[in-house]
Amino acid sequence: MRGETPDLLIRGGRVIDPASNRDEVCDVLIQDGRIEYVGSGLGLPDGAAEISAEGLVVTPGFVDPHCHLRQPGYEYKETIATGTAAAAAGGFTTVCAMANTKPPVDTRTTLETVQEVASAEAAVHVYSLAAITMGLKGKQLVQMGELSEAGAVGFSDDGITLASPAVMRHALEYAKRFDRPVANHCEDPALTGDAAMNEGPVSMRLGLAATPVQAEEVIIARDLALAELTGGSYHALHVSAARSVDLIRGAKERGVNVTAEVTPHHLTLTDEIVAGRWEPIIASLRPYDPVTRVNPPLRSAEDVRALRDGLASGVIDCIGTDHAPHAGHEKHVEYAEAAPGISGLETAFGALMQLVHDGEISLPRLIERLTSGAGVYRLPHGSLAVGAAGDVVVLDPEREWVVDAAAFRSRGKNSPYHGLTFRGRVLKTICDGRVVFDLNEESVETVGALGV
Ligand code: DOR
Repeated sequence: MRGETPDLLIRGGRVIDPASNRDEVCDVLIQDGRIEYVGSGLGLPDGAAEISAEGLVVTPGFVDPHCHLRQPGYEYKETIATGTAAAAAGGFTTVCAMANTKPPVDTRTTLETVQEVASAEAAVHVYSLAAITMGLKGKQLVQMGELSEAGAVGFSDDGITLASPAVMRHALEYAKRFDRPVANHCEDPALTGDAAMNEGPVSMRLGLAATPVQAEEVIIARDLALAELTGGSYHALHVSAARSVDLIRGAKERGVNVTAEVTPHHLTLTDEIVAGRWEPIIASLRPYDPVTRVNPPLRSAEDVRALRDGLASGVIDCIGTDHAPHAGHEKHVEYAEAAPGISGLETAFGALMQLVHDGEISLPRLIERLTSGAGVYRLPHGSLAVGAAGDVVVLDPEREWVVDAAAFRSRGKNSPYHGLTFRGRVLKTICDGRVVFDLNEESVETVGALGV
């Protein structure tokens, strides 16, 4: 032990580090909060603690390019402390927080407030996106240069679609100067209106106002065209439809500067769950349960199929949880009135392991997609390279557990997975060499001063 944190030797696990093409049984040594050595045959250094990972999987801490920590302004839904405790419990050691707080992150002062709270209270690394437009109003661009300099890793009005093509064009041009991506929430408000679910046979049966996949398609098609025009870097948030995957594949083939993410819920649930039926995971929920309300909405089985294929092939670059915690009173209302969103950090890995157990994606590929969000915002995380931050997760891909939303670290208990049995569990999360989640102790250490 050289610093204030004990050094850690994680012994004998299957170490999967997609960034360095490693998949072998070996050890990982973390010294002074950094990865010091990955390999075999090392004795336990003086003062180091040993963690046995025999029979388990050891990977880089996951990186979430998309979550809502709600602070400032909506602390009754979540705080930076509770949201990052939830991240740690879900295996995430880096999260990117969206700007739709109150006030939104559209000035340097608000950004610095978030950063100060994060460095004092966050359990994991927190990076912030800034809004694209002042007040998320879709008109006047924020001071992108100033915000980039202050640490904003990208720009997004997420939660609200940037509807104006002219403003999007200028945003892409302006952000390009600072090498920052512009990330859009892709639902054309003119088509979506106040729809509560996906348009199709299920919405017809249930009689709920609905939005077609084309609402996403038209925004993605437009944004890709503008990214091509400007050469700006564009990130498609929470892609939910087969048609969108096709558009992104085509744009990537043409060399457009685009990345895309998909959520665990869009990969595992269809709109049938709004009617109480659950596919492809078999379970049941009462019809019209607002825990299934989310933007963009859960789609059809064909869309889920295409999203899974897109994730496996790399057309979709990474998983973003879109962790969107809400208070009980915002969800315990009629379906159409409910706040959209799913509290997703703590269930992401368990839900996605279903794809591995079904043979749809390999475990190393899944780990890659859970860490490659770092690339979207050029973050120095998501690998076990020597010298990298000591961000490591110990996983048991076979461990069964029952989701209990009431026990979430997140203040948001809004999970459609509540009561389901998952196979695949995060056992330990280590961030900067500190254990920030340990299932054995069922406690989360909130570590201050991690900084970014
Ligand atoms: O369902 C959602 N909720 N989708 C979003 O894009 C925003 C999020 C929120 O902020 O609650």
